[in-house]
Amino acid sequence: MKKTALVLTAGALLATVAAGCGDKKEDTKQGTAASPAASTAPAASTAPAAGKQANIGVAIYKFDDTFMTGVRNAISDAAKDKAKVDIVDSQNSQPTQNDKVDLFISKKVNAMAINPVDRAAAGVIINKAKTANIPVVFLNREPLPDDMKKWDKVFYVGAKAEESGTISGQLLVDHWKAHPEMDKNKDGVMQYVMLKGEPGHQDAELRTKFSVQAIEAAGIKVQKLAEDTAMWDRVKGQEKMAAFLAANGDKIEAVLANNDDMALGAIEALKAAGYFKGDKTMPVVGVDATAPALKALSDGTMLGTVLNDAKNQGKATFAIANVLAQGQTPTKENTGYDITDKQYVWIKYKKITKENANEAQ
Ligand code: GAL
Ligand code: CA
Repeated sequence: MKKTALVLTAGALLATVAAGCGDKKEDTKQGTAASPAASTAPAASTAPAAGKQANIGVAIYKFDDTFMTGVRNAISDAAKDKAKVDIVDSQNSQPTQNDKVDLFISKKVNAMAINPVDRAAAGVIINKAKTANIPVVFLNREPLPDDMKKWDKVFYVGAKAEESGTISGQLLVDHWKAHPEMDKNKDGVMQYVMLKGEPGHQDAELRTKFSVQAIEAAGIKVQKLAEDTAMWDRVKGQEKMAAFLAANGDKIEAVLANNDDMALGAIEALKAAGYFKGDKTMPVVGVDATAPALKALSDGTMLGTVLNDAKNQGKATFAIANVLAQGQTPTKENTGYDITDKQYVWIKYKKITKENANEAQ
């Protein structure tokens, strides 16, 4: 494993949030060492010269992630003719990302947009950015609240993880009500398996929790047969699902995955076990509404997903970063997005099935 920081249990995550402190680990400590900017006094203004386009440094946690590739493309599309964006790959390593941030600072970019590898490392990045007076917009991986409070030129663009969890649970509730045969052993209980994203990631923890809560809130009893992390990854999703099938076989009545890539991996494992032929089927739900997931919806292998709006997350990230880069304060008027609590832009999720798949394209 490249990193350890994200490997927190749900409990540890909540404890971390409550205590408002990040975990201490080697990678982030280096960030407090003298960076190029740390020794110089804050610049008076970060804005580019009049009439000039801003330079914006963007670091993505890793390029090899389906959903973040959509966000990355949306950022470069939004920036066309408006600003120069330099988008770099942090290769799933926080030390690598910290080096990229140092480089952006030494190049004196006008603003940064950072998709942290480890959300608990945001504090270190904020300290560096503040010292250099370079505003920063975080995206997709939400910094801890206490870190967000360190500076008013720090923003977050993302989506409410709870909401996506609730919607994925509701997809299974709808199906359970419309298809009583989903209760294969007729015990009135939904036996499910859960494929989790990266432990400690707000989307993994909260989607897991709120999806199950939504099913229970609809008055349906649940039994968890198995749960494991497949780290947002399709191949790992397939491997874990194969293991769940080997251990539980026909007892499984539903598959919940924290994202589409893992759901698609699960579908591969199910196909290999003879599912989706004749009347042997399995309700599988994901999150993101990526192109391959929409294809699976139309093929009838995926029951439903939740639109994680890459386009608007990318557009909003760029809009906020560009306004900040110009030395202005982001508002609804100059960005087109509502700003909550002066620092947050929340992009809505949406329930997607075969019937409304066109709304996700
Ligand atoms: C989630 C998304 C996942 C993965 C993750 C990366 O919002 O659903 O597929 O991209 O972000 O942080
Ligand atoms: Ca059952």
